[in-house]
Amino acid sequence: MRILAFETSCDETSCAVIENGRSILSNIISTQVPIHKKFGGVVPEVASRHHIEDVLPVAIEALEKASCTWNDIDAVAVTKGPGLVGALLVGVSAAKSVAWALDKPLIGVNHMEGHIFANLLQYPDLEPPFLALVVSGGHTMLVEVKGYNEFNLMGQTRDDAAGEAFDKIARIMGYPYPGGPYIDKLAQKGNPEAIHFPVAMHGNHELDFSFSGLKSAVINYLNTAKMKKIEISHENVAASFQKAVISALVEKTEAALKISKQKTLVLAGGVAANSGIRKELTRVCNEMNIRFCYPESVLCTDNGAMIGCRAYYMAKEGLYSKWNLNANPGLGFCGEDK
Ligand code: KG4
Ligand code: ZN
Repeated sequence: MRILAFETSCDETSCAVIENGRSILSNIISTQVPIHKKFGGVVPEVASRHHIEDVLPVAIEALEKASCTWNDIDAVAVTKGPGLVGALLVGVSAAKSVAWALDKPLIGVNHMEGHIFANLLQYPDLEPPFLALVVSGGHTMLVEVKGYNEFNLMGQTRDDAAGEAFDKIARIMGYPYPGGPYIDKLAQKGNPEAIHFPVAMHGNHELDFSFSGLKSAVINYLNTAKMKKIEISHENVAASFQKAVISALVEKTEAALKISKQKTLVLAGGVAANSGIRKELTRVCNEMNIRFCYPESVLCTDNGAMIGCRAYYMAKEGLYSKWNLNANPGLGFCGEDK
């Protein structure tokens, strides 16, 4: 079964051809990062307009790279949410038009489920059940994946996503959007013990996260230093901030592993590319005798391949969409808002 999968939820226009769920025949990603860099973040209206220009050329390139024609496609998948409404609508409209013209089924996919399924592309033998820690620019959540179509949301952020905090702090320190990779690089050269930043929700029994207090603490530190004209080390700020994020993620993940008794942990979402997070979770999982999986960087950030993989397992259970499929920017998880 060959699925043509569209992903346009934020600032990457991507289209992939996935065969039998796990084999990537093509995964074309046209990034708008250089365009949004000028504004310090994604401008939704600009993103939508660029998706319109790019979506069909990217789909045609995906077919060419996969050595397929339109008629070789068995189903069409698309991210239906969460994400930016205008950006999502471009992908949904394109996917609907293609599916209708080809007379093939349509599959609307939850973007966060797609991020988790990127791991199935990376590890051919990986199967549910497992625990997933999803850390992206818009979400931070712990999800128990009980089956290919059975999810249990165990915890999530109560305010900012971890990636949002990375991007905001990098921006204040003068680094371009998206700032996560810059903080990652700086942190590798800094001292994580140099500055004490608070870890929210620490020591309680909840599995939720909170990053807005940490974000404010780092911003206050930077503003105070600026006002007092104190020279600061960007490396130490990055390392100390990243250490606080990692402690929160690791503490709640360890607790969720114990509660769920899962023996495999998968990391997903754009922030899963962070070297410090990967290193610390590798250490913890070794200690706990847990298998730890994470996708290569190109499968961590937004891409069509993860949507195609997710769609395959929905198609296997007949979870197709109707022609009135709409973009849902606030789409929740595990059946909420579906
Ligand atoms: O999953 P994603 O591509 O988009 C959303 O669905 O939100 O995630 C993008 C986020 C951005 O906040 C970006 O700064 C962050 O992933 N990111 C990183 C790294 N690479 C990307 N954050 C920390 N360290 C990295 N190496
Ligand atoms: Zn994403």
